[in-house]
Amino acid sequence: MTDVHTGRVLSMVSHMLCPSVILELGTFSGYGTLCLLEGLGESGRLHTVERNDELFDLQDEFWSQSTRNGHIQRHHDMAMNVLENWDALGSGAVDLAYVDADKQGVVEQLNALLPLMSNRGWILFDNTWWNGTLAEATGPKPDALRELNARLKSDPGLLTTTLPVGDGLSAVRVLPRG
Ligand SMILES: C[S@@+](CC[C@H](N)C(=O)[O-])C[C@H]1O[C@@H](n2cnc3c(N)ncnc32)[C@H](O)[C@@H]1O
Repeated sequence: MTDVHTGRVLSMVSHMLCPSVILELGTFSGYGTLCLLEGLGESGRLHTVERNDELFDLQDEFWSQSTRNGHIQRHHDMAMNVLENWDALGSGAVDLAYVDADKQGVVEQLNALLPLMSNRGWILFDNTWWNGTLAEATGPKPDALRELNARLKSDPGLLTTTLPVGDGLSAVRVLPRG
């Protein structure tokens, strides 16, 4: 879940980039969606993916408070399914992605996202500090986050800064490939 400080950073980054296409993985209440929406380009589109449709009423209630809610496209789907079928949607390259769904899937999601990113693309990953317990924590989630952090550090095509906000928010500039 995105806390208010992280939410303000999402808004700030979105304003700085003025993205035409935003993709959020993991919607939950829709709070992060609204924060990202604040900086979306005038005729842009914000796609957000959520597997649990029991949250949709809550999201609709939240989003109805924004005059720009017509720019939100919700996908009731699994994150990987949307990533794997992105080209068929015809939605264009992604300028800003916010990865905040299942933590076990973050590396797979990164790999699937990279070919979809625009030449000015940025990816934000939430929870990359895991409450400061990554050195000793065991289990699939911390394992995946350790693998992600190692990848973000070693991949020469990714420039990463982890911001000390919330539970760690890693901001990744994706260098143009090929
Ligand atoms: C941490 S919450 C997202 C918080 C949200 N980004 C915000 O700003 O408040 C994670 C959400 O991702 C959803 N989720 C988890 N794994 C998913 C997956 N593989 N595909 C789609 N949604 C997923 C969960 O149902 C949950 O609502």
